[in-house]
Amino acid sequence: MAPAEAVAHAGEEDGPALATQAPPPSHPSHVYPLGSRLNEAGHLEIGGCDVLELAREFGTPAYVYAEDHIRARAAAYREAFAARTDRFEILYASKAFPHVAANRILSAEGLSCDVASGGELYMALRGGFAPERIYLHGNNKSEAELRYAVDQGVGHIVVDSFDELDRLERIAPGQAILLRVTPGIEPATHAYISTGQEDSKFGIGLDELPRAIERCQGLELRGLHAHLGSQIFDLEPFGKLAEVLTAMGDFPLLNLGGGLGIAYTSDQQPPSIDEYVEVLLEGAPEGVTVLCEPGRSLVGNAGVTLYTVGTVKEIPGVRTYVAVDGGMSDNPRPMLYGAHYEADIADRMGGERVCAVAGKHCESGDVLIGGVALDDPCPGDVLVTPVTGAYAHTMASNYNALPRPPIVFCRDGDARLVTRRETYEDLALRDLV
Ligand SMILES: Cc1ncc(COP(=O)(O)O)c(C=O)c1O
Repeated sequence: MAPAEAVAHAGEEDGPALATQAPPPSHPSHVYPLGSRLNEAGHLEIGGCDVLELAREFGTPAYVYAEDHIRARAAAYREAFAARTDRFEILYASKAFPHVAANRILSAEGLSCDVASGGELYMALRGGFAPERIYLHGNNKSEAELRYAVDQGVGHIVVDSFDELDRLERIAPGQAILLRVTPGIEPATHAYISTGQEDSKFGIGLDELPRAIERCQGLELRGLHAHLGSQIFDLEPFGKLAEVLTAMGDFPLLNLGGGLGIAYTSDQQPPSIDEYVEVLLEGAPEGVTVLCEPGRSLVGNAGVTLYTVGTVKEIPGVRTYVAVDGGMSDNPRPMLYGAHYEADIADRMGGERVCAVAGKHCESGDVLIGGVALDDPCPGDVLVTPVTGAYAHTMASNYNALPRPPIVFCRDGDARLVTRRETYEDLALRDLV
């Protein structure tokens, strides 16, 4: 594949790529976790920890989180709702980062949990969420997953189809449920993470909804749910969603899904949590308990990935490739939907040399960033990509038999390893030879 093709992405999730970045910043941009700073040595600090020291102690690649960022975002959701109503429930959409440590923080912050599989349910329970505060989602839940949820006492199952209504009524008559609705609203985001449009594998269309509501006799129908999609900046569709669902009947619960967008690049300014919650509540009728399910906007900016630069290859007149020790196995989002990231050298933030950041996988498309301005990267430098807290670790693979990176949580200068790095032995652990 020609280099120009190698960095071209099929679709763009986050807007146009940045060709350059503003040169030398005195502090990290707003895409980094809260409290990030440059210390006296000019090194990036996350959660009070020097990133170069983290790289030395835990190796690279590594996912690093500022714990307090997660707490602060949860508090922002809580405060935004509490200032306007006492009828609300905030669910952590755990698919964004289904991890016991994150779940522990968010359950302690008083959030409920959205799980989309038996595995996520297991992680949520391990992470301290009370079963009755868990909502089980999924467009094709297996009978085993439904039984597991019912046995564990999961509060609500979000039923996605007529087939599932039949299945659940047989397994657990009387179970409390929400119905997932496809509201026919298309937000402005990448097609792969847009879910509210009529042509969707998720949910029951508005035309079919009255029939589905009638079919819920053997279950306890408590409300409706819809999720428009993810990484959404325009709030208007959320207001419309509340109106559409409200028009479908009177229910005690109205779950408006997740989807609030976050800044991946310094030029992006997403709406605040407060503005988002305002819109959600505006469209909802009095007396209804409004639920929302943020994932990305709780944990996305909380995490960064540390890599080590291995090679710098300049192709005169074409491009400079900076190859790092990870790639599409630890962050497939650029390849999946053209997601844009920025990067910095951890002890020389900013810079002017425009480079493509490539991974180490056997694919020309293994390019994490098509063009980013760096400060003369060299082999051995620690390179940081911010905003990898959501949908990175959870989408990671072992492609090329790369062991998956560790996860480190940082707070007030203390770093704790919450997931160890995989070993070569781990790679063969399940093989029965
Ligand atoms: C049903 C549902 N709820 C919530 C979310 C979380 O979305 P986000 O991470 O954009 O907030 C998703 C993400 O795909 C989802 O499918």
